[in-house]
Amino acid sequence: MSSIRLVICHLLLASAAVAHPTATYRSSSPECKIEWEQCPSGNPGHQAWDCGNVTVPLDYTDESSNETHTVQLWRSKAVKSPSMGSILVNFGGPGGSGFPGFQGSPVIHWMTGGYYDLILFAPRGTSEAGNLRFSCFDTQEERDSYPHDGRPFINSFESLERDLIWSWAQRQAYANQCWNSNKDKRVGELIGTTFVARDMMNIVDALGEDGMLRYWGFSYGSILGATVAAMFPDRIHRVILDGVSNVFNYYNRLTIYPKQGSKFDAVYRYILSECLAAGPDNCALARDAEKDLPIGEQAWALAIQIELLKDRLNSLPIVVNASVVDGGYVSNLQNMLLSPEDDKDPRDVTLHLHHLLNNKSLTEVVEFLHPSKDLEPDDPPQYDDNEDEAQLGIRCSDKTGRNGRAETAQDAISEAKIIGGSGEFSTWIAAASTASCAKWPWKSKESFNTSTLQVEGGLRTRNRILLIGNTIDVKTPIENARNLSTYLAGSVVLEHKDVGHCTLMTRLSKCTADVVTRYLLDGVLPEKGTACEPNKPLFHAPSPGLVNHSFLSLWPSSARKKQRSSRTLGAGHHALPLFD
Ligand SMILES: *[C@@H]1O[C@H](CO)[C@@H](O)[C@H](O)[C@H]1NC(C)=O
Ligand SMILES: *[C@@H]1O[C@H](CO)[C@@H](O)[C@H](O)[C@H]1NC(C)=O
Ligand SMILES: *[C@@H]1O[C@H](CO)[C@@H](O)[C@H](O)[C@H]1NC(C)=O
Ligand SMILES: *[C@@H]1O[C@H](CO)[C@@H](O)[C@H](O)[C@H]1NC(C)=O
Ligand SMILES: *[C@@H]1O[C@H](CO)[C@@H](O)[C@H](O)[C@H]1NC(C)=O
Ligand SMILES: *[C@@H]1O[C@H](CO)[C@@H](O)[C@H](O)[C@H]1NC(C)=O
Ligand SMILES: *[C@@H]1O[C@H](CO)[C@@H](O)[C@H](O)[C@H]1NC(C)=O
Repeated sequence: MSSIRLVICHLLLASAAVAHPTATYRSSSPECKIEWEQCPSGNPGHQAWDCGNVTVPLDYTDESSNETHTVQLWRSKAVKSPSMGSILVNFGGPGGSGFPGFQGSPVIHWMTGGYYDLILFAPRGTSEAGNLRFSCFDTQEERDSYPHDGRPFINSFESLERDLIWSWAQRQAYANQCWNSNKDKRVGELIGTTFVARDMMNIVDALGEDGMLRYWGFSYGSILGATVAAMFPDRIHRVILDGVSNVFNYYNRLTIYPKQGSKFDAVYRYILSECLAAGPDNCALARDAEKDLPIGEQAWALAIQIELLKDRLNSLPIVVNASVVDGGYVSNLQNMLLSPEDDKDPRDVTLHLHHLLNNKSLTEVVEFLHPSKDLEPDDPPQYDDNEDEAQLGIRCSDKTGRNGRAETAQDAISEAKIIGGSGEFSTWIAAASTASCAKWPWKSKESFNTSTLQVEGGLRTRNRILLIGNTIDVKTPIENARNLSTYLAGSVVLEHKDVGHCTLMTRLSKCTADVVTRYLLDGVLPEKGTACEPNKPLFHAPSPGLVNHSFLSLWPSSARKKQRSSRTLGAGHHALPLFD
């Protein structure tokens, strides 16, 4: 292999994008090409990728500075020829890393038609972001021993105020920890989304193609995509926003979650209806239904039975060997049904709910929620896992305005009440999310003003944008995609009819893949109102759609994180819900 060459790019000053008249867009010079090399072995799956770097300005708002930042890139080459250029991909988080272990490229190549190179990049703040890696601890040991809360976040709407005040104090202490451990305080203000958007355009320049952006962003990646579209509308070629977050809430409010209290419950009943329709052979829980009722009412009755079970286990927990089975077990199983991206087959999840309802096979239930193999030591991490810190660093620093930066716990309480409604899931997610940026000490140097998107007739991008929403996605409901679409002139929302977060964490759909491929290759958007069915139904055996098509399960770093959290938090506790 050739020796490692360092490419120092000469930085140019170019005129600002219309959307941001005060900020400069400094581009790398056009002759600054990326020197690709096969990635070094070491991380699993690494060898399949090419590695490269792009040098960008450290601080886009400081024209007098010549300090730089190196953005690491990974390339998976097109599987068909000729290559039609590159697609940048962002898997959300923000703060996610572990790119070298990413094994999902065959699925993305399949969905994108195979004619594009896929480019992953390390956003500022993430673990491979070099001098802009955002961390709140000096060592992994320090991180592991930090006293994270071990009790459920918000248990009920009634205890919301008390729990939120407590969480607010916790998160404020955490913010102080982050401040103390960052020797270079500037890092926190240099990792915001607008700077990442500028880095992306520098990557596009350095790729030396047509100077236009092709991009697929998942979850938070949709915020990044909407931001880059607003800042560089003339340079948009193909942009897919998948699992769309609410960009207005992301920047301007404490929480990204829209008010939708009863929605979660409706969604939950929908899944139970699917289960009943599939029958006991494919969904054991169907055995617990009251057969003499109409199917809609059966689902409702089953939902109530499960709620009562939760209450019963909370007041009378059962000790099973070294574990206490309480209502949290039920909540965790419910969560798995609503967000199947952890690669749990819904048939298994409903089987264990069935066990709990019938007070049997509890050892199996415990094993399912705390797999003992998870407790075996894994390969040592390649680098410290700063993912949660990066997420806070980016998300909290991006917040603007009064509603985005509550001063007191009381401000957060008002916000959580507006957002949370009364559904259990939504309430604790909203409350945890309002508290997580408590007294955040940093603010991005270039903030994004969402009014850039609020223009008459919608923002006009050079080419139209494709948005994708899953019928049921607890984290990013399809309403968000419809909302954003009204601000992006000519854009279309495709509905992917599945349960889960983002298309690629759900069952594969040839129909969805065809829409994506046609858009990328020919620029053809689907008719408004188009909806795509997955290849396989939710509860029918076998359902390989939920296996190996999930990004999270393919990432070594997130597997490590799961192990840690299952050790520190009992299954009876909600894991701290973070935006991803
Ligand atoms: C990219 O930069 C990193 C960090 O500076 C370095 O370790 C790596 O060798 C570089 N890769 C290439 C392909 O130049
Ligand atoms: C950056 O600027 C400083 C002065 O501000 C100068 O001393 C240094 O040589 C410059 N570095 C480069 C790489 O141009
Ligand atoms: C309890 O769990 C331990 C560890 O998994 C196991 O070795 C032991 O046999 C279990 N005891 C009973 C009574 O099931
Ligand atoms: C469930 O079974 C356990 C033993 O496995 C028993 O201790 C407990 O009382 C039972 N609970 C109910 C509600 O039947
Ligand atoms: C955003 O821009 C609008 C219109 O230009 C302006 O009225 C508003 O004050 C700006 N908001 C912030 C937070 O700067
Ligand atoms: C989009 O969402 C934001 C935040 O919830 C809201 O203020 C706005 O009115 C919505 N726009 C449309 C067109 O629904
Ligand atoms: C899923 O991926 C894992 C790891 O790559 C592999 O061991 C397993 O056999 C795969 N399962 C299926 C059903 O393809």
